[in-house]
Amino acid sequence: MFRRQATTAPGLLPADVPRHVAIIMDGNGRWARQRMLPRVAGHRRGANAVRATVQACGELGVEHLTLFAFSSENWRRPADEVSALMELFATAIEQEVSRLHEHGVRFQVVGDRSRFEPGLQKLIEDAEATTRANARMTLTIAANYGGRWDITQAVNCALAARAEAGQAAATPALTEGEIAQHLALASAPEPDLFIRTGGETRISNFLLWQLAYTELWFTETLWPDFGAADVQAAVDAFRSRERRFGRTSDQVRREAGDPGDSVAGNRAGVDPGDGLPRIAGAR
Ligand code: FPP
Repeated sequence: MFRRQATTAPGLLPADVPRHVAIIMDGNGRWARQRMLPRVAGHRRGANAVRATVQACGELGVEHLTLFAFSSENWRRPADEVSALMELFATAIEQEVSRLHEHGVRFQVVGDRSRFEPGLQKLIEDAEATTRANARMTLTIAANYGGRWDITQAVNCALAARAEAGQAAATPALTEGEIAQHLALASAPEPDLFIRTGGETRISNFLLWQLAYTELWFTETLWPDFGAADVQAAVDAFRSRERRFGRTSDQVRREAGDPGDSVAGNRAGVDPGDGLPRIAGAR
């Protein structure tokens, strides 16, 4: 699956590779309509694009790849499309997990999986158990996921943890840290790069909390046509951004040891880790 063992592609510095890439895969239906095919044909081709994207990210040295496969709102789609998507998801797990495992990829699903058929839930659990110890890359599929659901369940878990510790629910007030540790992706760094295909420029209830400082990149390319060249284009755009995390541009340059004249590039690329709430004064 991954051709190179190296963690970087030619011309990329390790620090320039986003550690975590999160993607909204959009445009399957339009891809199919353009070819006068049923929507499910677009989803099937979309599954091929998933494979190509996992491979491209693995070869670049991305550590976490999170894909939005099915939102909490997608149940509103026609019943036959929903069941086709569930079937496709189950088939993809059955066919791909051993290959992911061979290549050191950890597979996990985030979202409320209680609404899935028991058979699909079991497939997910088994795939997660098989790949749990893999460390090369984590592939997370967000399924029946919504950012608001995630924040709500995290707050409820934080309150439950307080109750269990015999602490008052509201005094002192919950901290960001208490909530963040219960989010579905608590074990991953926040995404560095967000990609949405299909020409729409929305977050659509994806990782609402985690995208606070993420670099956003949108493309007209429809998901079934997305591949390694698009991943590279997104990473190139990411490299040209200056991430300030609330600091000034001068501070970022100084901390990177740059007197100030050279082209920015994504040299800071890291949360200063000073414990300050990153929401304050951030751009
Ligand atoms: C959005 O396109 C796509 C989805 C809601 C489903 C994504 C599913 C896949 C890529 C299939 C395989 C997934 C895995 C994890 C194996 P859309 O249908 O909203 O497209 P449109 O906006 O053109 O109608």
